[in-house]
Amino acid sequence: DDPADLQPRPCVVTVMGHVDHGKTSLLDAIRETNVTATEAGGITQHIGAYQVEHNNKKITFLDTPGHEAFTAMRARGAKVTDIAILVVAADDGVMPQTVEAINHAKAAGVPIIVAINKIDRPDANPDRVKQQLTEYGLVAEEWGGETVMVPVSAKTRQGLEDLLEMILLVAEMQELKANPNRPARGTVIEAELDKGRGPVATVLVQNGTLTVGDNLVAGTTWARVRAMMDYKGRRVKKAGPSTPVEVLGFSEVPQAGDQFFVVPDEKTARQIAEKRAN
Ligand code: GTP
Ligand code: NA
Ligand code: MG
Repeated sequence: DDPADLQPRPCVVTVMGHVDHGKTSLLDAIRETNVTATEAGGITQHIGAYQVEHNNKKITFLDTPGHEAFTAMRARGAKVTDIAILVVAADDGVMPQTVEAINHAKAAGVPIIVAINKIDRPDANPDRVKQQLTEYGLVAEEWGGETVMVPVSAKTRQGLEDLLEMILLVAEMQELKANPNRPARGTVIEAELDKGRGPVATVLVQNGTLTVGDNLVAGTTWARVRAMMDYKGRRVKKAGPSTPVEVLGFSEVPQAGDQFFVVPDEKTARQIAEKRAN
């Protein structure tokens, strides 16, 4: 893309960490804090990804907790995450999957923000967590290092604003940009066969704008985009950079991590997909 065509895009954030350290709780708390308050009757999450707005800036969260999804995507060459949130329970400390998550994020070259969670617990020890993390090259800013570490509680909501603030700060330094005025490309986040609707895929648009009626190829599958739904389940006609969207119209169920791109017509889409399948 010509630099002149590039426009700022929201950052894409993935949450990782050891089992039961509070990844889902944290995402839920962030979503409620930032979305439910403005939504009568609360928010129904329809897809495994959503956006929140903080200080008029959007943040896209991929709700694919656990690094298995992350690994699967990386194995397929997909790079969807701009920032990894590493959740470490303040009472439990660094555990084997914490270390795995650090290694995944480092291998992917993604900046890590540490959320030291469960600080409401009486046996919480954030300093011990910071100490443990130094062994893996993550040194807290307040200890002279470069890693942002935010004490939080998904239970009391303490520190959530700070965490969002830090995400936006780290994102700002990345100067994330994309060109909305070109055919879309992106990555399949998850997909399944729905009894009524056929193959359904949640995709992340990473560049360009995906529009209903577009023809695309994803791995060995293709689609003529019949309908799109945003994370609130609302029908949308267009999805720009960093937007997660549910797509109907696939020939078959694509795989998580498949990268998609729009082609000029259905015949081309079909031909490329078939050629790849054989
Ligand atoms: P997996 O997806 O199974 O790996 O777990 P997770 O990391 O998503 O953790 P989850 O959100 O399921 O939380 C695990 C347990 O910790 C639940 O019982 C939560 O209620 C509890 N929990 C999560 N965050 C907090 C917190 O900030 N404070 C306290 N006291 N409990 C928490
Ligand atoms: Na859990
Ligand atoms: Mg979970």
